[in-house]
Amino acid sequence: MSEGLLPLKTRGLCFAVREKQIIDQIDLTISGNDITVILGPNGAGKSVLLRLLHGFLEPSAGQVKWGGRDIDEDLRKRQVLVFQRPVMMRRSVADNIRFVLSLRRFSDRQERLEKALDLAGLKAQANQPAPRLSGGEQQRLAIAQAMVLDPEVVILDEPSSNLDPGATMAIERLIEVAQNEGKKIILVTHDLGQAKRVGNEIIFMHRGRIVEQGSCDNFFTDPKTPEAGAYLDGALLV
Ligand SMILES: Nc1ncnc2c1ncn2[C@@H]1O[C@H](COP(=O)(O)OP(=O)(O)O)[C@@H](O)[C@H]1O
Ligand SMILES: [Mg+2]
Repeated sequence: MSEGLLPLKTRGLCFAVREKQIIDQIDLTISGNDITVILGPNGAGKSVLLRLLHGFLEPSAGQVKWGGRDIDEDLRKRQVLVFQRPVMMRRSVADNIRFVLSLRRFSDRQERLEKALDLAGLKAQANQPAPRLSGGEQQRLAIAQAMVLDPEVVILDEPSSNLDPGATMAIERLIEVAQNEGKKIILVTHDLGQAKRVGNEIIFMHRGRIVEQGSCDNFFTDPKTPEAGAYLDGALLV
């Protein structure tokens, strides 16, 4: 049995492009088996932070450690990042899941495929071309593709940003199923309602920094910083 991935820690994490500090000295600790929500206005650096945490981007300074270890191939397999706009092959829904399964040495691929289709509510669409799915179905497929790999941590970047309320609820149910299976969820959203519904812990970002981190209840009832207060009041933060 390998060591756990948590806590996830960053120290002095920076990501700069030319003169611009997109991620600016972030010291962060994420642990627990619950749902951590990262909130913040557009352009705050949420997506870049997720890419750094996953190991998809290299920091320009500082460190990311999962369970005390640097990111390597093994760690990258144990946590998955689902992008905001998932890319899928112009093949069937089932083939898209089979493709990710083919990247690992699973002996129970058929069983995993069926479970993933069931989880995503896409059994009836299994043989349809994935690009023809609705936005909500495509997001569910992307999450199912991540879940089929049985990661310990699932990182989701605005999984319901373009979806209607019904499709959003379906995504939230899927997230809760993943959590109930014991997976740690790190979810970026700018939907305050979603953060309240599913979040246990909130991390609030602004201009490449972590401004606040605390329990969901405290964040919404008693934000500690003017930036978080303004964001909750619906003021435009830039
Ligand atoms: N690879 C990149 N090169 C240059 N600038 C980038 C890159 N990725 C993101 N940015 C910029 O970094 C800032 C934060 O982006 P992003 O993390 O996507 O914000 P968020 O997800 O919070 O809306 C934005 O100003 C964006 O334009
Ligand atoms: Mg983003």
